[in-house]
Amino acid sequence: MDALRIRGTGKPLKGTVRISGAKNAALPILCATLLSDGESLLRNVPKLRDMETTSALLRFLGRDVHFDAPEIRVRAGSQVRPEAPYELVKQMRASVLVLGPLVARFGRAKVSLPGGCAIGARPIDQHLKGLEAMGASIRLERGYVIAEGPGNGGRLRGAEISFDLPTVTGTENLMMAAALAKGRTTLVNCAREPEVEELARILNKMGAEVNGAGTDVMHIVGADRGTLAPFDHAIIPDRIEAGTYMVAAAMIQGGDVLLEGAEISHLEALSSKMRAAGVDISSEGQSVRVRRSGPLRATNITTAPHPGFPTDMQAQFLALMAIAHGESVISETIFENRFMHVPELQRMGASVVVRGNTAVVQGVKKLYGASVMATDLRASASLVIAGLSADDTEIRRVYHLDRGYECIEEKLRGLGGNVERVRGAEA
Ligand code: EPZ
Repeated sequence: MDALRIRGTGKPLKGTVRISGAKNAALPILCATLLSDGESLLRNVPKLRDMETTSALLRFLGRDVHFDAPEIRVRAGSQVRPEAPYELVKQMRASVLVLGPLVARFGRAKVSLPGGCAIGARPIDQHLKGLEAMGASIRLERGYVIAEGPGNGGRLRGAEISFDLPTVTGTENLMMAAALAKGRTTLVNCAREPEVEELARILNKMGAEVNGAGTDVMHIVGADRGTLAPFDHAIIPDRIEAGTYMVAAAMIQGGDVLLEGAEISHLEALSSKMRAAGVDISSEGQSVRVRRSGPLRATNITTAPHPGFPTDMQAQFLALMAIAHGESVISETIFENRFMHVPELQRMGASVVVRGNTAVVQGVKKLYGASVMATDLRASASLVIAGLSADDTEIRRVYHLDRGYECIEEKLRGLGGNVERVRGAEA
């Protein structure tokens, strides 16, 4: 397994970093290609393991897929196999996003339950409740969801569906199901993330009728011709990658980084907290500029569904607060086990006490390098950020990091960071 070696230079990050396309926008959109038989082209796709996994899954389902980053071409193959096996789904939970399109397009699907992951149980009850409301029959069999359209594989029917809580992939799955269902579907209390809005743009380009994306009520009228048109689309920038480099730039006084291609309107909650912590965030053309000229101030955050503070930025922000002046209270309201970066940061000298879903951080003057372990995608990012301000850190199991950050060592070196990949390091 690879490791990353970070030698803190003591110098702040400076320069320009190109923000890649959004992983969490590309994933549902690639699954939406199942709704069409034409050749779709997705541009600005990041070269990440999750993209390779999704390509492999679409091939398993019978699609012809050509992934040559930053482009992916998908078109119908000679046959369809509406099954997503455990071997693929266990590598990437977002594989569950093939469920809605498969049932809507082919009347049936057999998709492995994703199972839990490091950050939580991650149930999909809301996805299944919505499909049942649309007339699908759902049964669970030996770890698989077996779903069938009404009347043994018939067409789904539009329905009014109210989510118990906002779920990003739950909203996306049902948007795709509704795009070919008969009549109108209303999704109430749906997720409002930019990635949900991007999927709505694609479904409208494909010929569905989606209104209200970005708000908590969406109306979708299904297309009657049985399939949707293919699309050619360049996806939005990755707001979590951008936020991660925003925090990295703020770790050392004097940081001055331009996040090229970042969309500031996707980063309002994070930007507001960064400003409160004493970091200057400004929009410059199609980019976002991050400057840190003075001391860091302790700042409290509570994660929430978009447009609230993103849970995917909690670990990174906590690493920043570990060296801020004063006490910060970090509350995680989305996932039940999302403080696994804390014990690793404590090994680097951070002063943090976790009580339930709250972490109380006492800022320290300096963090110390250590050998630490990545546990999940965003926890790994917080260790990289901490390593930038320490002396000598080795982060193991960086395959977690490779799921969501394209060329992270090259990008950090481009900003003056001293980061190298150690191939085949001890696990
Ligand atoms: C998406 O996961 C993202 N993944 C996650 O990003 C992100 O952390 C999460 O949204 C929250 O923003 C993708 O978009 C591929 P949820 P998702 O359904 O859709 C509960 C990353 O780092 N819930 O919005 O799986 C659930 O347990 C990843 O890129 C149910 O109870 O998250 C959680 O507490 C990590 N029942 C809450 O809702 C359901 O049926 C929000 O989960 C579905 C969800």
